[in-house]
Amino acid sequence: MKLKLEILLITAVALLGCSRNEVDYQHVANGVWKVTVGNPDKFNLTSNLGIIPRFEEINEMPNVDTLPIDVNEIKFEIYDGKTYIRFPLDEGEKLFGLGLNFNSVERRGSIQRLHVDHYQGSDNGRNHTPVPFFVSSKGYGAFINAARYIDYWAGTGVTKNSKHPAKAMDRNTDRNWTAQPYSDNLEFLVPAQGVEVILFAADNMLDVVRKFNLYNGGGILPPKWGLGFWHRTPTLYSDKDILNEVNMFKEKHFPLTVIGLEPGWMTKAYPCTYEWDKGRFPDPQKLIRTLDSMHIKTNLWMNPGISPEGELYSKIEPYTGSHTEWCGILPDYTMSESQNIVKDFLNEKVVSLGASGFKMDENDGVDSWLYPDVAKFPSGTPAEQIRQTYGSLMQKMATDIYRENNTRTYGLVRAGNAGTVSFPFVIYNDYYDHKGFITALINSSFIGTLWTPEVRSSNTSEEWLRRIQTVTFAPIAMLNAWADGTKPWSFEDVSDKVRDYSLLRMQLIPYLYSAFADYVFAGIPPVRAMNLEAGYACDDEIESGSLDGTNNPYAMALRKEVKDQFMVGRDLLVAPFFTGERTRKVVLPKGKWYDFWTGELAGDGEVIEVNDKTGKGNIPVYVRNGGIIPMYPPITSITGEKLPVVIRHYGDKSSSYRLYDDDGTTYDYEKGKYTWIRVDVTVNNDGTKEGNFTIPSGNVLYSISEIKFEF
Ligand code: GAL
Repeated sequence: MKLKLEILLITAVALLGCSRNEVDYQHVANGVWKVTVGNPDKFNLTSNLGIIPRFEEINEMPNVDTLPIDVNEIKFEIYDGKTYIRFPLDEGEKLFGLGLNFNSVERRGSIQRLHVDHYQGSDNGRNHTPVPFFVSSKGYGAFINAARYIDYWAGTGVTKNSKHPAKAMDRNTDRNWTAQPYSDNLEFLVPAQGVEVILFAADNMLDVVRKFNLYNGGGILPPKWGLGFWHRTPTLYSDKDILNEVNMFKEKHFPLTVIGLEPGWMTKAYPCTYEWDKGRFPDPQKLIRTLDSMHIKTNLWMNPGISPEGELYSKIEPYTGSHTEWCGILPDYTMSESQNIVKDFLNEKVVSLGASGFKMDENDGVDSWLYPDVAKFPSGTPAEQIRQTYGSLMQKMATDIYRENNTRTYGLVRAGNAGTVSFPFVIYNDYYDHKGFITALINSSFIGTLWTPEVRSSNTSEEWLRRIQTVTFAPIAMLNAWADGTKPWSFEDVSDKVRDYSLLRMQLIPYLYSAFADYVFAGIPPVRAMNLEAGYACDDEIESGSLDGTNNPYAMALRKEVKDQFMVGRDLLVAPFFTGERTRKVVLPKGKWYDFWTGELAGDGEVIEVNDKTGKGNIPVYVRNGGIIPMYPPITSITGEKLPVVIRHYGDKSSSYRLYDDDGTTYDYEKGKYTWIRVDVTVNNDGTKEGNFTIPSGNVLYSISEIKFEF
């Protein structure tokens, strides 16, 4: 039953029980309602992040004034010092989101306690970004904005007064008896005497996710170099080792845009000084400048604990918590004093020297080495709330350094939460399951997070190639050789192929950059779950906005969750092979799909089987009919010089595309300094193709020297 907003408001009043359970619905934007229940904590997941919701963009989306569920069926109740929330579930309704899970995509049937932690192999709620936001296949979602360990039961609890009661059965005699009877409840328990919940409604799941992202400040636009190829060096490398390494990349003609320095750049680590080790790095500024002259950016590892042996210690000590991490004191980043002290220190010691960003490690957990929940922090913020937001607040601190210099950064972080969609950091971890990495990539798209399935080491050249292939299509394409010094060319028999993939990554930058422009301006995740695909249709051959599983062959073909293929940008579908696999199924949504490598028709709304007898063939990638892929030449660095772009068009359908261009490094795009180039390809009756591009009058090309069509 659909309800108009007016009815929603009246219902809210009718729902008022005793005053403690007071529920206030506030319409804040097109299809967005803020619900306040009881007395929510003043400190929540987003309160200290300086987020500015992007209401203008939300209001420009198709108008929605109803929730697709009966609002009377949403329940809030405060008892036992906690807030209970219930959402109704329909038969067949699917739920997504609720944290960065690695084993599964659909959440219905799961029970979790959302808790920031290093992922330890089971989808139990403890992960790097346990974002309390779900999106339902009915076309709505909810964000529970509480920095608490939130419990949820997604379609497991069965209530005796259910409108859709499960039938009691006799296990002795009935073979259909099940240990999990049907549940129509999605239930949450928030350990706080009230809560703020934001409800989002839209015509399709992607638009719900977009609204969630825009509400939290919108996505991010990395600097262009961030979309190139990254390589992290072994922990104790010196400046000489690093220069040798980057020279090898040049000699071997492997692309490299970012070099990552691990803990050994500092005098002390675990806990950290954030000061250069003068033995290994006698002249860090010279090193960074030399690397810059080779068009290679420098990214520096750090973790939160501050060493008693560094200069920062005495400055930050008054603003640190009672407990330590590896004997390092921990800044209370909820305090502006901490933010400013560490920000100024990092600015002075590394950013002013030219370092391009950070890898902020170990702000996630695990319990045995992190502060316990009895720890106290000088702001008075409970340790539980600190734990849920530590990574988010470090991201804010680091982003601010670069923002204040009008320079974009792009980095890595091990923890975040809701609200970090507006910070340019990508999550990674120590878990190294290739399949799990892809499932996390899919899940990241529901919760406003970016994830990289980084490559570290491999047992075989086949595994090496398979991992390199998938990272080519990830938010950061990175080899993290901190532990064993593996090089991209370490597996000789696939070394040429690995080079080709690294170069392909560079070629894809205009396409990826445009996808990120859609992220920052419109909240569209650049890498997405297939489940978000039906709604993202610029192509009328695809069920635009449809949530109807019967009309969506994708949903019909795979009733089970899809956790091993994903969308990148508007038009690419990537279906990785994993080590040992010689055949796999790929689900192609409705509409024709073409093989990225050959341009041949691969299928239309069907499940296809692909084979690779060698285990070392290409990664299966498909392009939708009318898909347009702008590509750079196979360059090895981003020099800042203007580059030609070649436009590929797939299929037999006329189409258009928006190619994004700006200076690639500053925040000037926020002041309107960017250009959307319109690209049109017409397919004539005889199958020939014609291409055109239009630069809006008054706009300029910032980084493109010419645009050519390759048909
Ligand atoms: C790990 C991190 C690795 C590496 C290492 C250095 O925790 O996940 O990528 O940086 O620390 O000590």
